[in-house]
Formats: sequence, C-alpha cells, structure tokens
Amino acid sequence: MKGLLLSGGSGTRLRPLTHSGPKQLIPVANKPVLVYALEDLKRAGITDVAVILGLNGREQVIERIGDGTQYGVNVTYIDQGAPLGIAHAVACAEDFMGEAPFVVYLGDNILRHGITQLVADFDENKSDAVVALQRVSDPQRYGVAELDDGGHLIQLVEKPKVPKSDLALVGVYLFTRSIFDAIQKIEPSWRGELEITDAIQKLIDNGRVVKHHIIQGWWKDTGMPEDILEVNRLLLDDLTPVIYGTIEEGAVVKGRVSIGKSTVLRTGSVVYGPSIIGNNCTIDAGTYIGPYTSIGDDTHIAGAHIENSIVVGESFIACKKTIVESLIGDKTQIRSMDQKLPKGHRLIVGSGSSIGL
Ligand code: DAU
Repeated sequence: MKGLLLSGGSGTRLRPLTHSGPKQLIPVANKPVLVYALEDLKRAGITDVAVILGLNGREQVIERIGDGTQYGVNVTYIDQGAPLGIAHAVACAEDFMGEAPFVVYLGDNILRHGITQLVADFDENKSDAVVALQRVSDPQRYGVAELDDGGHLIQLVEKPKVPKSDLALVGVYLFTRSIFDAIQKIEPSWRGELEITDAIQKLIDNGRVVKHHIIQGWWKDTGMPEDILEVNRLLLDDLTPVIYGTIEEGAVVKGRVSIGKSTVLRTGSVVYGPSIIGNNCTIDAGTYIGPYTSIGDDTHIAGAHIENSIVVGESFIACKKTIVESLIGDKTQIRSMDQKLPKGHRLIVGSGSSIGL
C-alpha cells in the first residue's frame, strides 16, 4: 500500500498565517500538522509516500520534510499547481500509484488514534474504497455520508446546506485504482473544484463496493483558527513532559510542561501545564505562560501573560498584557505602549507583523 499526503490548496481561511507558508506547516503542540499525518502513515506501515505540493510554500514543505528519511518514509513530491480540487490532486498521483492500493490523507487533518486500524482493515479484494466517518455537530462544514437502514453507504454530498446525517467525511480515504476512472467522469462543483466526494459517489453509482469505517477518538480538520487552537489543546492534553532546558531557581513550573534545549526560564517566570516551550527560548521574570500554550523555537517573552495560544516561533513579546486564544505567526514582535486597553487581547497575527499594545 502507498500513501498520498495532500499539502496543496490555498489556505485562505487561515490568512494571514498562510501568507508566509502553507497551512499544513502551522505547528500545533510545536509540530507541523503535516508531520502528524506523515507519522501516522509510517505507523500504519506505509513507507512509500507521495506529497502533493501547491503553489503556496512548496519549498517550505520540501525543506521541512526532505526525502522523508527522518520520518522513516520515502517521499516523492508531485506538483499540483493551482488548487483545482482534492480529486484533481489525487489524479496527479496516478503514475506514482501504479497498480497499488493507496491511502489519501488530507494534510490539514489530525486524528488522535491515527490510521493504523483503518489501513489494517482494508482488503482491496473486497472493496474498491473505504471512507472514514465521524459524527459531528456541524455536518454542513464537511462532506456528509448517508447510510441506508442496513448501514450501507448510499450517498455522499460535499458541504450540503441541509445535511441528511451527522456523519462527516474524515480527510482519510482508502482507494484502489478504480478511483482514477471515477475522477475522469466528474465535473467541477459549485466551488469550481473536482471534489473527491463526487468521485466516490461515482464509484457507488457505478456499482463499486465502497465501505465506511467510523473512527474512534477525536478528529479535527484544522481549516479555521479556532480548530487549530482546539487541536493544540487536545494534543497538549496528551503531552508527556520532557525538560531539556534550564529552570532557574525561583521560576515556577506547574503541571505537565515540556521545555526544549537551550531554553531558559528565568527567576520569577511561571509556566502552567499543559504547555510546551521549544528550543532556544528565553522566558523572563514576570511572564506567565499557559495553560494550553505552545511556544515555538527562538522566542523571547518578557513579561506577558499568554494562555490558550500558539506562538509559532522566532518572536519577541514584551508587554505586560494578557494574550488569550491567539495564533501568533513567526517573526512577530509585540511590545508595550502603555495605553489603556481592555484586559485580554485576541490576536491572529501573520508572519513579520509588528504590534504595539
Ligand atoms: O477535512 C475533511 C473534509 O476535507 C471533508 O469532510 C470534505 O469532504 C473534503 O472535501 C475536505 O473539505 P475541505 O473544504 O476541508 O478541503 P480543503 O479545501 O481544506 O482541502 C483539504 C486538504 O487538501 C488541504 O490539506 C489542502 C489539500 N488540497 C486541497 C485542494 C482543494 C490540495 O492539496 N489540493 C487541492 O486542490
């Protein structure tokens, strides 16, 4: 079995964070979303992986993932170019797949229990495709599946206004090469994309065997800022703390906290778990971090109170303010300007920003 990891698309819903790179590289709990997917593929025994590249940040993806050796997989890159749809991205990988069955993993999805069970249960001699499903409270945001009374999949609709069920399509699919013929037969949707949902519906309409698998454990599509913060919380809930850096006397660490190499927590700083601080960071006196906060490498925080947030990295935050539920892009500077402002600031800030508070 081979793997296909989708890292194309435009990431418009996550601007300005995606001005400086693809959404799949946004770190949650200090690791890019895409890397979780790659690790899941490896754990499921899939080592031959193609990564679909879009126009936004393709070099950054190549730089981060390389040839895949560090993750125990062999990576081949395939350029999709403009984001013409998930089915289009899959079609770009036809030559790479050859006769092999394969798993498609959307690079902005995270599954708590990975895909090992899903892959292990797939028998390409008994089904042409398997879709992963999970019940959600807001099905109109997703592809939605309808089952008949016998529990068989009968219809899949992409983002229906009036969903026929609460079963959302998770961004992981198992296919045989029959999907390539189905993709040939579909037309672009109302959003101008070749939808994988329509291609799978085509398989069903043509009498192919399409099964479903309801996944256990949480699953998240990190398409919106609040989804990213929620995944950050969920991942930090599972954090196994590791401390490499220095905690000076008089610095306080409470709960499960990871601290990276060459990071210093100065006397008078406080970090509440679950939280993670990357490498080469300086946390000065008067700083409060956490709970549910991830601070990326090379960040200096001098006096702020940051909770329930992600600081991507290489940033300088020097203000005696409370920052909550924020996504702070890399290379950001936030400084005090002694103005009277409401308590607590909500920030969604892109790369290279400079903010005076
Ligand atoms: O997350 C699950 C949902 O993902 C499913 O429920 C939907 O049925 C499925 O269509 C998809 O919906 P989204 O609207 O969330 O898809 P999005 O455009 O965000 O793209 C998903 C991933 O695929 C993302 O990592 C970007 C990548 N992609 C997307 C397009 C349109 C590509 O690589 N190329 C593309 O052309």
